[in-house]
Amino acid sequence: MVYFIGAGPGDPELITVKGQRIVKEADVIIYAGSLVNKAIIDCRRVDAEVHNSASMTLEEVIEVMERGVRQGKLIARVHTGDPSIYGAIREQMDILDEKGISYEVIPGVSSFVGSAAAIKKEFTLPGITQTVILTRMEGRTDVPEKENLEKLAQHRASMCIFLSVHMIDEVVKKLAVHYPVTTPIAVVQKATWEDQKIVIGTLADIGDKVREAGINKTAQIMVGDFLGNNYEKSKLYDKDFSHEFRSAKNE
Ligand SMILES: C[S@@+](CC[C@H](N)C(=O)[O-])C[C@H]1O[C@@H](n2cnc3c(N)ncnc32)[C@H](O)[C@@H]1O
Repeated sequence: MVYFIGAGPGDPELITVKGQRIVKEADVIIYAGSLVNKAIIDCRRVDAEVHNSASMTLEEVIEVMERGVRQGKLIARVHTGDPSIYGAIREQMDILDEKGISYEVIPGVSSFVGSAAAIKKEFTLPGITQTVILTRMEGRTDVPEKENLEKLAQHRASMCIFLSVHMIDEVVKKLAVHYPVTTPIAVVQKATWEDQKIVIGTLADIGDKVREAGINKTAQIMVGDFLGNNYEKSKLYDKDFSHEFRSAKNE
């Protein structure tokens, strides 16, 4: 059996209980060493076989899984954050399907929510926005033209931009076509790790702040008015608003 496990953004306590149980029991662990905190797999068995997928190809990863499964072993494939976001798990799952190998996916805390927690913000503020866009800038890997950052910026929703901090000036240029340059923007590097860095500014000054902080990888760029201080109170806890679990106080 193969388990795809979301390791969370960095803090070893942010893996799920279920994910950690599988890591503890696994005979074989294949972890994405470029991003997963090695402390996540410290709880492994002393005799567990460990592979760092950072230096492996897709075929090599599958080969390790297939060999292990043939020998009746439990395989933990550990991805950073949540594996469904830029995790490249679909291609692995499709090959396992073809080979008739069973697997399960255990979700994880994605770095975008780890980053919101680090700066203590809520993406979906009433009266401001009810939408979160997760995306990235095109770089060495394409993004479909209809999802160009400039087009997505038209919504002025809360936006989390992965894999792009090394292109911060280009990101800002595209965002500024629709967001006012006074719009708040935050960059969190290595959210939830001990050496986490947080930089907060506006579209006008974030490029310089990011350079001053020496941030050029493993960072989340978050933009939108959810970072500001204007919003409406939620209806959910409004004393004059009734819902399935509570009547309005004046009813
Ligand atoms: C290949 S993607 C993997 C994303 C991961 N599956 C997730 O759910 O967070 C790597 C990118 O995720 C973001 N990232 C991953 N870990 C991070 C962290 N601890 N803090 C901030 N951003 C992080 C960065 O944008 C990085 O370039």
